[in-house]
Amino acid sequence: MKGSRKGDLGWLSWPVVALLLSWLTPVASAAELRPVANIFKPLSAPAESVFEVSLLALLVCAGIFLVVGGLLTYAVIKFRAKPGDDGKEPPQIYGSNQLEMAWTVIPILIVFVLVLVTARTIADVQNAKLPADALKVLVVGHQWWWEIHYPDHGVVTANELHIPVSAREQRRPTALTLESADVIHSFWVPQLAGKTDVVPNRANAMWVEPYATGTYLGNCAEYCGTQHAKMMLRVVVESPEEFAKWIASQKSPAANDPAARAGRALFLKTSCVNCHRVAGTAAVGVFGPDLTRLMTRETIAAGAAPNTPEKLRDWVRNPQSIKPGCLMPDMQLRSDEVDLIVAYLLTLK
Ligand code: CUA
Repeated sequence: MKGSRKGDLGWLSWPVVALLLSWLTPVASAAELRPVANIFKPLSAPAESVFEVSLLALLVCAGIFLVVGGLLTYAVIKFRAKPGDDGKEPPQIYGSNQLEMAWTVIPILIVFVLVLVTARTIADVQNAKLPADALKVLVVGHQWWWEIHYPDHGVVTANELHIPVSAREQRRPTALTLESADVIHSFWVPQLAGKTDVVPNRANAMWVEPYATGTYLGNCAEYCGTQHAKMMLRVVVESPEEFAKWIASQKSPAANDPAARAGRALFLKTSCVNCHRVAGTAAVGVFGPDLTRLMTRETIAAGAAPNTPEKLRDWVRNPQSIKPGCLMPDMQLRSDEVDLIVAYLLTLK
């Protein structure tokens, strides 16, 4: 009896200590394996507010963990069976009003503080007054890509959102209206702001205000079907001058390179035009991404592949090879037809 009890305690305490140590030891972060958006590096006003609340919650939880884990470790080590113990059960004590009061009231206070701070942050972000000249962008979620409109500029693009950088002295926030064409998606660029669901038959609003130029990665954050994981989003934050240049380039008339005339004619003859738009041509489809400036984008298929001639060719030849289940069908084109269409697409810059 005595021996087995001692064995039980030893068996219990070391895994606990090992577990504590493993939690405290830093592990290789996923960021080393692939570039992912870092939620602990906010670079935009709403993301900073969210980060501060999460830090507070983390600190409070870490404090609780240390107190509970510390007491547990202390008790396990200090009161373990010792050689020469008589094996009798120690005195059993039941009930303590003070203790029960304390472990009821303290957690209630902690939860109350966290609820208040969170509510205040949500209200601050949602009710923020944006300057009247804030850039307005409409983002429409589709299975499985993002349609992006700049209503004040007449620009339409997909999957890569360009916005200007903001300065604390001269604010240039971007107001986003979020709509869905099919199912519920969720717009999430961790370094810019918290998640906002994109719901059919509803216009949700959010805003971002990045303080540094660069490309920010995001992803759909609500399971929306087969290719949910390949519904990525890139936000390119540029200086106001670069952004103005980008808007101007997107507005100029679509390319009509004579060298790609055959490919253009073929493209306009296939059912590509039922889903895709190229401004100034008979292609006016709206089910798929606007291709007017396809080659100004870094990726195709909502970030599933880099926008290189080889990948573009693979995509046109058989989209299902890059994104199985995607809604763009295999058009059963001959190899020479694929070449012609890709040659035309490559001129759309
Ligand atoms: Cu869209 Cu998940």
